[in-house]
Amino acid sequence: MKTTTNLQRRKLLKYTAIGIAGAITYPSWVKAGEFVRTNMPSADFIPDVEIDLTMNAVDVAILSGNKTRIWKITGKVVKGPQGVLDNNEGTYLAPSLRFKKGQKVRMILNNNLPAQSILHWHGLHVPANMDGNPMYAINQGETYVYEFEILNRAGTYFYHAHTHSVTARQVYSGLAGLLTVTDDQEQALNLPKGDLDVPLVIQDRSFDSENQLAYSSHMMQRMQGFLGDQILVNGRPDFALPVKTRAYRFRLINGSNSRIYKLAWDDGTPMTVIGVDGGLLPAPEQHPYVMLAPGERAEVWTDFSGRAVGTELNLRSLSFDVAAHGGMGMMGGGGMGGGMMGGRGRRGMMGGGGMMGGGMMGGGMMSVSALPLGSDYPILKVRVTQKEQGDNSLPKTLTPITALQVKNAANAGNPRNITLSMEHMSALLNGRAYKMNDVQPYETIPVNSLQLIEFDNGFEGGTHGMMMNMPHPMHIHGEQFQIVKREMSPRFSETYSTVSAGFIDSGWKDTVLVMPGEKITLLKPFNDFKGLYMYHCHNLEHEDMGMMRDFLIK
Ligand code: C2O
Ligand code: CU
Ligand code: CU
Repeated sequence: MKTTTNLQRRKLLKYTAIGIAGAITYPSWVKAGEFVRTNMPSADFIPDVEIDLTMNAVDVAILSGNKTRIWKITGKVVKGPQGVLDNNEGTYLAPSLRFKKGQKVRMILNNNLPAQSILHWHGLHVPANMDGNPMYAINQGETYVYEFEILNRAGTYFYHAHTHSVTARQVYSGLAGLLTVTDDQEQALNLPKGDLDVPLVIQDRSFDSENQLAYSSHMMQRMQGFLGDQILVNGRPDFALPVKTRAYRFRLINGSNSRIYKLAWDDGTPMTVIGVDGGLLPAPEQHPYVMLAPGERAEVWTDFSGRAVGTELNLRSLSFDVAAHGGMGMMGGGGMGGGMMGGRGRRGMMGGGGMMGGGMMGGGMMSVSALPLGSDYPILKVRVTQKEQGDNSLPKTLTPITALQVKNAANAGNPRNITLSMEHMSALLNGRAYKMNDVQPYETIPVNSLQLIEFDNGFEGGTHGMMMNMPHPMHIHGEQFQIVKREMSPRFSETYSTVSAGFIDSGWKDTVLVMPGEKITLLKPFNDFKGLYMYHCHNLEHEDMGMMRDFLIK
């Protein structure tokens, strides 16, 4: 049966999917039409759009000099408007997909990589067997057929590899792209359209002296998550965007493995946020900066009409703290009592005067990257290059959002509590690591119910060791959720004050950054579909270490 096969595959995977380096030693090329289908298209599904997606190891010019070996998804529109797909040729980015609410989409995924893989549609509400659970991973030479209707509202979504224990490496190699949905309500709004609507996928990468992607799975790298040495936007280093004197809609996507950004314009212009993970907000909001954790999206409206041709504006990531000050104090109840993470005089080891801010991951171990987490560095440059007249007004209201009510939750008095923890060499959810077919009673959810869920990252304190307090961007598959409240332990209030103005809680979300000492309560509908839906930390190294579990909807 399928499950058995996939379990066998999962065992094999350890040995076959050793990552990017492996690609070079497998020259085999499977021609289109020779792929073996692992599931069949259904006869009664009439697609409006049909797309063929093939994953290959290819070389692209990212830096000057040698080309870089990457894993590229290339698409072809088989049925429907050509505009649904842009291959982002010449970059490692997967094709950008543009769908409309209500469209029936068939995507035929062909794996021509020397490794297993599967794609997940991050943020989309699709049937469980179309969601890219790692158990559906396909081998080289195989095909997976996806069929689903776009049920989501207009918004900026994301898709990426979701292969057991190698998601981080596969996304890093290029298996991630943008997916947008539009609908009539959004189209009717006076928001910037066409070339004034610009997606910006922000990622970090490291290259070796041969221009090849460098990825370390060193222990510290895994505990903190991969941090690259340079920022790429839409797959390009030193990204500069020429703009007209018009208002723009920037769709910011954090497609990085683990890097968290604190995004702000460098001239102090506030960030005018119009949307988040699950689409537009009820109304625009101004923030001094926007926190964007891996997997999160934020849409920012920026008006260049008052600016002279020749002016430049930079988007930066500003400095922030990732853990509490004060060394041992925040290590909380238990753990290893001052073991490997704590206490080593960080100033001394950094030699550079505390660029990292956060204390407890302290010392030189943190500075694996030339761009430490929480330091201040540029993301991209915008250059005003052309005068153009037009209506640059910002709509006062965007989209109605009905606030979900706690009293309507099936478990209103008894939230499902998920405690996040990192200790020793593990990253856990309620003390458990990912395991297939290991659904616990608290992970079983009745279909068509509204659920109250808490993510607790050390707010209640200490039941799971609390060795390392790190921010964890928690993501739940399936329908979007609403954030009900945030609670913060006073132990971490200083750290928190460096990031808290950058959270946008008024929209539909699928990923939420849970800071050290924080507990976030949310309401999530589990409608329509039964089956397994994952929830996990979207720090992809944490995810691969096992900070991932399944909900079973039944
Ligand atoms: Cu974007 Cu399960 O992840
Ligand atoms: Cu997802
Ligand atoms: Cu995490």
